[in-house]
Amino acid sequence: MEKYTHVVITGGAGFVGSNLALKMKAAAPHLRITCLDNLKRRGSELAIKRLKDADIEFMHGDIRAKEDLVFDKIDLLIECSAEPSVLAGINSAPDYLINTNLIGTLNCLEVARQHNADTLFLSTSRIYPISYINDLKFEETDTRFTILDDQKLPGASSEGIAENFPLDAPRSLYGSTKLASELFINEYVDSYGMRAITNRCGVITGPWQMGKVDQGIFVLWVAKHYFKQSLSYIGYGGDGKQVRDFIHIDDLFDAIWLQLNNFDEYNGQTWNIGGGKANSVSLQELTALCEEITGNTIDIAHVAENRPADLRFFITDSSRFLKKSGLSWNKDARQTVQDIHDWIKANEADLEPILK
Ligand SMILES: NC(=O)c1ccc[n+]([C@@H]2O[C@H](COP(=O)([O-])OP(=O)(O)OC[C@H]3O[C@@H](n4cnc5c(N)ncnc54)[C@H](O)[C@@H]3O)[C@@H](O)[C@H]2O)c1
Repeated sequence: MEKYTHVVITGGAGFVGSNLALKMKAAAPHLRITCLDNLKRRGSELAIKRLKDADIEFMHGDIRAKEDLVFDKIDLLIECSAEPSVLAGINSAPDYLINTNLIGTLNCLEVARQHNADTLFLSTSRIYPISYINDLKFEETDTRFTILDDQKLPGASSEGIAENFPLDAPRSLYGSTKLASELFINEYVDSYGMRAITNRCGVITGPWQMGKVDQGIFVLWVAKHYFKQSLSYIGYGGDGKQVRDFIHIDDLFDAIWLQLNNFDEYNGQTWNIGGGKANSVSLQELTALCEEITGNTIDIAHVAENRPADLRFFITDSSRFLKKSGLSWNKDARQTVQDIHDWIKANEADLEPILK
């Protein structure tokens, strides 16, 4: 990281952005880090003090407004700002989603080009088409749906979805804004010789995620157990057998840190990064862990009808990245739920109005 002096993290008061900023500053104290955020996500305001206490600059700004994106010379830009909900725009106008996730990301890309800054972009597994995932062959066990090995489509196996999974079908408005951004990043790399890394992440979770019904399901699940409220299993029969893999923010940081320190090796490419089969749980299985760790059992309703854009399962096949990097993930489901629980307990007064 010696080559970098000033890093800008957009969405820097959000879950991923603020965690990356704090971990980067701890690992490389020489870095000047500026976190820009419009504080749209409820709870992101709690990051401001944490950032300032760590000598990280906070800028209140909006990536939709080019005039907000004025910085002293920067040499690394990490784009973490987003409307991150897959339900965004489904029953409402898509303006905020498109103006932030696509136009705003393009504004950030322009800033990076003008500063000749390396760029790292947080994309999503949601760029993979919904119907193709839901049409995969699967098996239903007592507690979850599992993807079978034998699939017609490339890039799909029991290990999950890999980068070569086909992309030619709808994926949600959210996923489309991210895929469109990915395409522009590739063009900026090609046309302007910029250096950029794109990470397609599955579910990311851990402390300081402000979980809500439409985003941050792990934290939502732990919080509802902790505060003894109710939940619902929605869709696919209403039994809570949907499966997601997850990556703990600490493991994601290790992956990004390695990429930044070896930028040339990852430059110009798109990487799946997610917890994978070993770090996957169904909602039912997550409930059991939450009950064990919080000691609370809550009412969970059963709603059979599917929610728009929902998936029966998603597992990220990150084998290309894991093989190249030599990394393996440290935080399993039990440890992750424990970390989230301990964080809520330690910050209960601040978090109760947000997570309850
Ligand atoms: N958390 C996940 O499970 C996950 C999975 C895959 C990809 N991602 C991607 O990772 C990135 C970070 O997500 P996160 O989980 O930290 O979400 P988050 O909502 O916690 O953080 C996003 C931050 O962006 C800010 N923001 C929103 N609109 C803005 C705008 N117009 N200008 C400036 N700031 C704005 C919000 O206030 C928030 O603090 C996003 O790009 C998201 O799409 C997240």
